[in-house]
Amino acid sequence: MRDHIFFYLNGASQKVTGPAIFETLSRYVREQKRETGTKIVCEEGDCGACTVLIGKQEGNTIRYLPVNSCIQYIFQADLTHVVTVEGLSKDGLTPVQDAMVRCHGAQCGYCTPGFIMAMHAVFEEKKTCSAAEAQRGLTGNLCRCTGYEPIIKAAMEVRDEPRIDALYPTAPILRDLSSAESAVRIGNFFKPATLAEAISFKAENPKCTIVQGATDVGVWRNKRAFESPSYLSLSAIDGLGEIALRDGALEAGGRVTLAQFEEAAATHVPEMAAILDRFGSPQIRNAGTLAGNIANASPIADTLPFLYVMNAELELTGRAGVRSVPIGSFYRGYKTLDLAQDEIITKIRIPTPRLGEILKLYKVSKRSHLDISSFTAAFLIRMAGGRIDAVRIAFGGVGPVVLRLPKTEAFLQGKSLDLAIFEGAGAIAREEIKPISDVRGSAEFRLQLGENILRKLYYALAA
Ligand SMILES: Cc1cc2nc3c(=O)[nH]c(=O)nc-3n(C[C@H](O)[C@H](O)[C@H](O)COP(=O)(O)OP(=O)(O)OC[C@H]3O[C@@H](n4cnc5c(N)ncnc54)[C@H](O)[C@@H]3O)c2cc1C
Ligand code: FES
Ligand code: FES
Repeated sequence: MRDHIFFYLNGASQKVTGPAIFETLSRYVREQKRETGTKIVCEEGDCGACTVLIGKQEGNTIRYLPVNSCIQYIFQADLTHVVTVEGLSKDGLTPVQDAMVRCHGAQCGYCTPGFIMAMHAVFEEKKTCSAAEAQRGLTGNLCRCTGYEPIIKAAMEVRDEPRIDALYPTAPILRDLSSAESAVRIGNFFKPATLAEAISFKAENPKCTIVQGATDVGVWRNKRAFESPSYLSLSAIDGLGEIALRDGALEAGGRVTLAQFEEAAATHVPEMAAILDRFGSPQIRNAGTLAGNIANASPIADTLPFLYVMNAELELTGRAGVRSVPIGSFYRGYKTLDLAQDEIITKIRIPTPRLGEILKLYKVSKRSHLDISSFTAAFLIRMAGGRIDAVRIAFGGVGPVVLRLPKTEAFLQGKSLDLAIFEGAGAIAREEIKPISDVRGSAEFRLQLGENILRKLYYALAA
């Protein structure tokens, strides 16, 4: 068992142990390494100024993806290669940086290193990019000075950006990282190599917190002074990181990221891929997991209405073995889960829409991207002979947990596609939900959304 975190930073190996493993990556590079290109602004994943690339092994290669280093901890960097803006430009300006200079993509410059890293990440995956691809890659980066036009223009001018493996040859880094023992124990932090060890640790440490992407836990720690008596990482456990279609259902392991889920959904459930495109930012989706979204139990979590209408099942593994729980009965109340102390979400099984079923998903938020939802809705409908043969409805942001709407479903059953009927259904839906007022919208606004969304659904179906 290793007693230190081992990773590479800009081509140089790093060993960190003791309480320092709970330091954020952004503070580590700025304060320990004195590399201050990586900026800290919001410290909660919202602005992208702290964007770095995290390289993780994929077969014989290392894939570099952008993440927010302000909500990534040193222990999460274990066995990765982290590249910061200093590491990117070690041989002078890269074509991305040069294009940003030529197109006047910076004014005060505070956001610029984050934009450079996120833009570089786009060119890790492809040689050139369109304006839409640039916008998508830069969703997680905010600029308060330039406006975004010169930045997008810069991205479109980039040619021949060297990939990270041209700057830092993969083989020696991979050899070094893969020769390290995978299990780590440092004080109250445990990264076991097997599921059995993870379950025992969770059972023996009653208030232990699993940390995966830390896109929730990191915000609690940075902004709410959250501390757990112990932390458990699942990142070394084989078999939890895959997602695949089996017997008409997507099966996602307990540490599948939202980016992996989005990639699979693009092929098998495009309607859900469109919602995931608006989930946080690329940085958030590269770090955050589907299981984390489920376990965090927010009533406005973007994956939940979809999981509800698809009748997804959670596989929970604990000391007593494996059990399966339908998503609809996993939540017993606000942030209260049917999850025993020793249990871990090890798999999520999501049936995909069958032939003849229509899936419609909605996310309402104040901004289109990088914003938490005010209201969410999912509908799964099957039509037969011009009538609604079956319907499932789930709304988020209208109660302490995501709600199914049985009265509205019963009302629509057997009805034809008619605006007056959907308006009637909207009035029933309004009666079935109990939203509260908060920073994302008033109760009245959400009641109106709950009613209006049925009308929007009608127009979508009629089209
Ligand atoms: C800037 C920003 C934007 C965001 N945007 C959105 C958004 O658009 N939509 C949205 O829904 N959410 C959003 N989130 C919230 C967050 O990204 C998601 O909830 C994410 O899915 C959490 O996953 P994670 O792996 O980071 O979880 P973590 O923070 O690592 O963990 C979250 C919780 O889940 C528990 N947990 C994790 N894995 C397991 C497991 N396998 N078994 C049991 N318990 C487990 C942890 O112990 C913890 O309690 C955003 C967050 C940020 C910071
Ligand atoms: S400092 Fe704003 S996302 Fe990290
Ligand atoms: S250049 Fe000033 S915040 Fe972007």
